[in-house]
Amino acid sequence: MGEQELKLDPWGVSYVKDYRRLMEEFGISPFTEDLWKKLPHVHRLIRRRIIFGHRDFEVILKAIEEGREYAVMTGIKPSGEFHLGTKLTAEEFIYFLSLSPKAFGFYAIADLEAYADNKIPLEESYKIAVSNLMDLLALGLDPRRVYVYRQSQEISVLRLAFIFSRGVTYNTLEAIYGDRPFGLYFSALVQAGDILAPQLPERGGPKPTLVPVGADQDPHIRLTRDLARRYRSEFGFILPAATYHKLLRDLTGQEKMSKRNPMGILYLNEDLESARKKVLNAFTGGRATAEEQRRLGGEPEKCVVFYELLSVHFQEDDKALYELYQECRSGNILCGECKAKAWEVISRWLAEHQQKRSKMRDLAERLLQEGTLG
Ligand code: TRP
Ligand code: SF4
Repeated sequence: MGEQELKLDPWGVSYVKDYRRLMEEFGISPFTEDLWKKLPHVHRLIRRRIIFGHRDFEVILKAIEEGREYAVMTGIKPSGEFHLGTKLTAEEFIYFLSLSPKAFGFYAIADLEAYADNKIPLEESYKIAVSNLMDLLALGLDPRRVYVYRQSQEISVLRLAFIFSRGVTYNTLEAIYGDRPFGLYFSALVQAGDILAPQLPERGGPKPTLVPVGADQDPHIRLTRDLARRYRSEFGFILPAATYHKLLRDLTGQEKMSKRNPMGILYLNEDLESARKKVLNAFTGGRATAEEQRRLGGEPEKCVVFYELLSVHFQEDDKALYELYQECRSGNILCGECKAKAWEVISRWLAEHQQKRSKMRDLAERLLQEGTLG
């Protein structure tokens, strides 16, 4: 398979042309309807197949069904404000916690990774983390059901990373990540520590753990599962489960979100005027002329407004989404009108989120200081 068709790099550019090939190559299972039918409620990201795959999700299902404890674990690299990409993982984190009163969340602020990858000093990433937590709380995280920590301060995670370093050679890391600075390799071991730390004795011992991530993080999941296997006799680890969401384009239709393309990224805390410009400029599946679009219809499959903005993020109502699909395909609606309507939905969501978020600063600071408010 060509480089441009399948590449997963958690610190660089990832491409996935064909998710079936990806799953075959790396042994990810499809997140099928059979699985999600068993869930107490089904998230939009699952119904719309944005979450396409998993490893060992059955283990989590079983814990839900039997009312047994499980952990939901994720992290964020505090290198910038929340945008549509980071919103996805946050929503998944909150959703998987909502599936059982026995679920408990672990949220890593990956300040070491932000330093290793982006040279962001720890004092600065602390401030970014507070802002990120304000978004997470506004999205609905219950601060009593989560433990939040910074990698740089979490001795149990760092100790695990050190222990794992004994079992990993340069060749293994090079095979997974390519030839990288040692700081990134070390970040990968710290992330393995993040993912397995919920199973340490001081956190209640071995338990099913779910890590919801984007497909680009699978190299970390593979490394961590390998380490969990190799350190099982010592720690009793249960292999961590994962769910995977698809990699999405930016607003301009580019495959990789890049801060160098400011029109491509929609921040959750962005002022509405600037957000409006971005939405009205977004890449569409429209035709060259209005006449052509009336005659041939638009192409919602190619359209960022239809897919990334409405289907993935902002249109909860399946029926409204389906109707728009028909309207677009039949040429009944043109992109200008469609974007104006989309903006109504999006601006309502953003205004409400920003309103909630603005009240979260104190809570976010306390949560970061104290770890949990339970
Ligand atoms: N590497 C992740 C990112 O780039 C952040 C992260 C750190 C993480 N630790 C984690 C994600 C543990 C999932 C689980 O965003
Ligand atoms: Fe996209 Fe709407 Fe244009 Fe169809 S009409 S291509 S959904 S912007």
